[in-house]
Amino acid sequence: MTSTVIAIDGPAAAGKGTLAKQLAAHFDFAHLDTGALYRATAFEALAAGLNPESPDFDAAATDCAKTLNAVILNDPAIRRDDVGQMASKVAVIPGVRAALLDFQRQFASHPPSGKAGAVLDGRDVGTVICPQADLKLFITASDAARARRRYEELVARGDTGADYGQVLADLIARDKRDSERAAAPLSQAADAVLLDTTELDIEAALKAALKICAARLGQ
Ligand code: C5P
Repeated sequence: MTSTVIAIDGPAAAGKGTLAKQLAAHFDFAHLDTGALYRATAFEALAAGLNPESPDFDAAATDCAKTLNAVILNDPAIRRDDVGQMASKVAVIPGVRAALLDFQRQFASHPPSGKAGAVLDGRDVGTVICPQADLKLFITASDAARARRRYEELVARGDTGADYGQVLADLIARDKRDSERAAAPLSQAADAVLLDTTELDIEAALKAALKICAARLGQ
C-alpha cells in the first residue's frame, strides 16, 4: 500500500507544527516534526561545546546528526530559543542534511504503526524530502504575528526573561539563514498551496487546511 503524504513547510512559528499535528490526528496519519531532528542535532552540538566558527564544526556537527539519540527528540529542552538558533546553523551543513534525509523519507513512505499516511512539517519537505507528496502546504504569517506567538509560547512556558523585540530579531535572523542557505533552502514548492495564518486562530487555520485537503485529496 502506498502511503499518503502531506508536506507542510514554512518559516518559524507560522503555525505549521500545530496544523501538522491536527491534520495527522484528523486523518489518523503519523506526524513527523522534521525540525526536531535539526534541533536534536543542535542540542548535541551545544552539549559537546561545538563552535560554529571553528574549522571542524561541519564535520563534528555531521557526526552529531549521524549518531542522533532518538530520546532527545522528545526532550523539551530542544524547544529552547538558543537550540533553535543553533539548529539553523547546523541545518546549512550538507552532511547534516544528508545524514537526516533517509529517516525522513522512510517515515513518509512507511509511516510507523502501520498508519495509512504521514504528515511531515519543516522547511524542505515539499521541495527535497518528499517532492512527490500528495499535498503540499506552505504556511506563512507576518513577522509580527509569528514573533507574538513565539513570545506568548515562551511566557506560557514560564520564561520570565522573554523579550518580544529579541524574539522578533531572532526569528528574522533564523528565517534569513534558512532562506538564503545553499542546501535545501526554505522555499515554497511550485505546486504547494499557500496558507497565510496571520489573521487566523488555530481553529480557523485547521478549517482552511481541511478545505484544501478536501479539494486536493478528495478527503
Ligand atoms: O521547525 P523548527 O523551527 O523547529 O526548526 C528548527 C530549525 O531547523 C529551522 O530554523 C531550520 O534551520 C531547520 N530545519 C531545516 N529543515 C527542516 C526542518 C527544520 O533546515 N525540514
